[in-house]
Parts: sequence; structure tokens; C-alpha cells
Amino acid sequence: MSAGSFPTRIFSGIQPSGGLTLGNYLGALKRFVEKQEEGIETIYCMVDMHAITVWQDPEKLRQQTREGAAAFIAAGIDPKRSILFNQSQVTAHVELGWIFNCIVRMGWMSRMTQFKDKAGKNSENVSLGLFAYPSLMAADILAYKSTHVPVGDDQKQHLELCRDIAIKFNNDYGVEFFPVVEPVIEGVATRVMSLRDGTKKMSKSDPSDQSRINLTDDPDTIAKKIRKAKTDPEPLPDNLNALKDRLEAKNLVNIYAALAGQTAERVIKDYAGAQFGTFKSALADLAVATLEPITLEMKRLMQDQAEIDRILGEGADRADALARPIMDQVYDIIGMIRSRRR
Ligand code: AMP
Ligand code: TRP
Repeated sequence: MSAGSFPTRIFSGIQPSGGLTLGNYLGALKRFVEKQEEGIETIYCMVDMHAITVWQDPEKLRQQTREGAAAFIAAGIDPKRSILFNQSQVTAHVELGWIFNCIVRMGWMSRMTQFKDKAGKNSENVSLGLFAYPSLMAADILAYKSTHVPVGDDQKQHLELCRDIAIKFNNDYGVEFFPVVEPVIEGVATRVMSLRDGTKKMSKSDPSDQSRINLTDDPDTIAKKIRKAKTDPEPLPDNLNALKDRLEAKNLVNIYAALAGQTAERVIKDYAGAQFGTFKSALADLAVATLEPITLEMKRLMQDQAEIDRILGEGADRADALARPIMDQVYDIIGMIRSRRR
């Protein structure tokens, strides 16, 4: 992997705006761990400054940030090999975010579909931060000159904007300073769908808890949610093409494949002709076998919150050490006087 002449560096973030879901695990966390295991430099962040674009109860936000960090570690992120921290502890993010607000154009921002979805008919009444969010996201990535960003499919447009911001900054100032990042959107689970509606993404903000599997759900709850997941009356077909218009069935097959580390083709061959009762029960067993150890480890880690805070602080120190020299150069490039004695 390479993005021009910049050394490979991976950055990704997850919002602590609620508990994490199976979608976050398969689309993000699991893949973050794979990147770490490939020996690439990896920086992972609980993006608390993003979370407050929608109002958060302060005490819950703190807990969700710790819980998210515990989920990273329980899923296999080693805070010694990867840098793991919460965004607000490294001020480079908001500093560069402001500078990017002055680079990005209103027109580019207005095309962001996630903003339109989230704001809906309420666009006069959402925070300015929610609108500016993708510019802070670009800053998260580029404050480290990161070259590759593993994310789920829903973040593709934001990463295209990040590329446009880097290109415009480089052009405006006549420099080759920021890398043009490569989105890393791969695997069968780049878009895990709701268990109640195959047209909607599984999301921590869906009002129905039945629509998602939370990383904190116990085995019984997981099994029940899978058993009750919406499907159709037909048995499973013997090829993926036949699943094209059967969104809910296709989603369950993809989830199975991602959990088992198999291709969707393999899964459909193995379960060709099976009724959903049979398939769902196998899927529930697989989901519990994968998630239960993670849930238990998260619970264990959450008992020592001081230790989680210590890990986040240490990660933030290491992140700051990478970002600070980059920010010094950015200020110099854009013409800011830096005369304080530090
Ligand atoms: P968020 O929860 O919005 O902060 O998302 C954190 C990461 O999880 C991002 O990389 C998302 O693309 C990914 N993600 C969130 N929901 C899903 C989903 N339903 N399927 C796949 N990836 C997801
Ligand atoms: N916008 C991402 C989401 O909602 C979270 C995020 C913030 C992120 N900053 C990032 C992801 C930087 C990748 C890189 O899912």
C-alpha cells in the first residue's frame, strides 16, 4: 500500500455517541485489528468531538468513550502496538479542523448525503458542527499525514471530501504537503444492514434496539434478535444472484460470512435449500461464539476505568507527538506568526 511518496500510516475513528454494534465490529473494529496485525502503523481514535455534533449527556459520553476504548482492546487492538486515544485530548484535530473549514467550499459540504440524512427536514435546527463535521474528519486523518483509512461503506463520501481538501490545500499553498488518502473499504461486511429493515444500515442511533446487535448484548439477547430478524418465507437459494432482491436474507448471509471469515459464495453453497430456522440458529451460535469473549473482556476492562483513562492518555501523548510537528509546519505554510517561547 502507498499513497504517493508518503509512508503508509493508518488512521480511523469511531464515535462514542452510543454503544457499538455488530456493524461497527465487522465494518470497522475487526478490520482495524487486521491492519495492526499486518504490522502497519495504526492510529485509532474515539472521536468525542464528533459525538457532540449532536447533544450528548456528559456522564454518558465519558462512559461511552471508555466503553468504546474497551471494545477496541477486547477486539484485539494492542495499545502498545497501535495508538489508541480520544480525540479531544489532542488539540491538533480541532486546530486543523478550523483551517480546513477555511479550505472547504460550502458547495462541497452541501453535497454530503450523511448530513442530509441526519438533518432531514430539520436542517435549520441542527448544529453548525454537524454540517462542518467532514472537515474535522479530514483533519483527524491529515493531522498525522495518514495515507489509508479503513471504514465502512457509509464513510466513502467523507473520504472523497478529505481527498479534495488535501488537494486544494496543496494547490492553494503550492506545496506537496498532505497525502491524498486511500479509503480502505473491503470485505463482505462494509455495510451491515438493520435486522428489521434490509434497506437501512445497522446503527447505534436506530430507535429500535431489535434492529441491531450491541457488543454488550448477552448470548440470549443475541440469539433472540437473530431469531426474530426479518426474513422472507423462501428457503435459501444456491447462488448469490438469487439473493439480489432479498435484502434481509442477503444481509444475514453476509453477516455469517464476515463472522466466519468465509466468502458469501461459500456460505450460500453450504446452506443452499436450508430454511431460515436452521440458518438463523447456526448464525446465532456463530455470533455468540465470536462476540461473547469480546463482551466478557469489555466488562472486565470496564471494571478498571482508571486503567482505560491511563491508556487513552498515553495514546494521546504519542498521537500529539506525531501531530505537533505537522501542525507547526501547517501554521508556517499558511502564514501564522509562531513566536511563543515553549
Ligand atoms: P460510527 O458508529 O458512525 O462512528 O462508525 C464507526 C465505523 O463503523 C465507521 O468506519 C463506519 O463506516 C463503520 N460502521 C458503522 N455502521 C456500520 C454498518 N452498519 N456496517 C458496516 N460498517 C459500519
Ligand atoms: N465519521 C466517522 C463515522 O461516523 C467517524 C470518524 C471521524 C472517522 N473521524 C474519522 C473515521 C477519521 C475515519 C477517519 O463513522
